[in-house]
Amino acid sequence: MKSDLFAKINIDPVKLPVHVAIIMDGNGRWAKKRLMNRIMGHEKGAETVRTVITSCREFEIKILTLYAFSTENWSRPQKEVNALMKLLEKFIQSEKDELHNKNIKLNVIGQKERLPEEVREELDSAIERTKDNNKMTLNLALSYGAREEITRAVRKIAYEAEQGKVSLEDIDEAMISRYLYTADRPDPDLLIRTGGEMRVSNFLLWQIAYSELFISKTLWPDFKRNEFIDILQDYQKRDRRFGKVICS
Ligand code: IPE
Ligand code: IPE
Ligand code: MG
Repeated sequence: MKSDLFAKINIDPVKLPVHVAIIMDGNGRWAKKRLMNRIMGHEKGAETVRTVITSCREFEIKILTLYAFSTENWSRPQKEVNALMKLLEKFIQSEKDELHNKNIKLNVIGQKERLPEEVREELDSAIERTKDNNKMTLNLALSYGAREEITRAVRKIAYEAEQGKVSLEDIDEAMISRYLYTADRPDPDLLIRTGGEMRVSNFLLWQIAYSELFISKTLWPDFKRNEFIDILQDYQKRDRRFGKVICS
């Protein structure tokens, strides 16, 4: 039973985050430490992706957003970009049945049109296959950059204003949120970054206004279920004030 699981891992299911976002960083350093090629670090990192998806489903977390490839990552050496795209294609191909069996809906945020055709085809087929699933949503951030996302939203709103479809008074925070890739999804409650860097690297800048942040020094390929549980326990102890004064 689920209550046994939560008791065992010392987690209060009522206080779990609805939406967890993760900056999966440290694959290159993981490989370098072992005198391996960076690409081997990415391959190992894909195993952690599997583990984290399974854990989120197990803990009944409704939304998981994974930062897998940023708009800036296109500037990496072509060989590494190609290897990452191939890995992504293989990952979707091998995981789509499992995602479907676990009742997980796949979604992509970012410039999908910039991805190679083979990757887009795999993604589209997995998105179609899982579209009616409702236990959890897995958002993959691919060719994603928050500044690009906001710029795109501004451009769309301005265009609609020009067409007379939107009036200036209608433009509010809720409207801007609706024009982002994450439209209609709640903001992340918890943002985790592995690899120890104290920065957000152009990830979900609008949506993380009030997210709880957790930076782990663990390199992504070494990130395991137990550490994820520790972070969820830490999250449950946080006092989320949203700028207000909590009277006790
Ligand atoms: C994260 O690991 C994966 C991607 C950005 C695609 P890195 O490749 O950035 O690994 P480090 O930060 O160099 O260790
Ligand atoms: C952020 O990691 C992007 C992803 C995890 C996909 P990077 O390694 O690209 O970010 P920086 O260069 O450390 O800021
Ligand atoms: Mg990095």
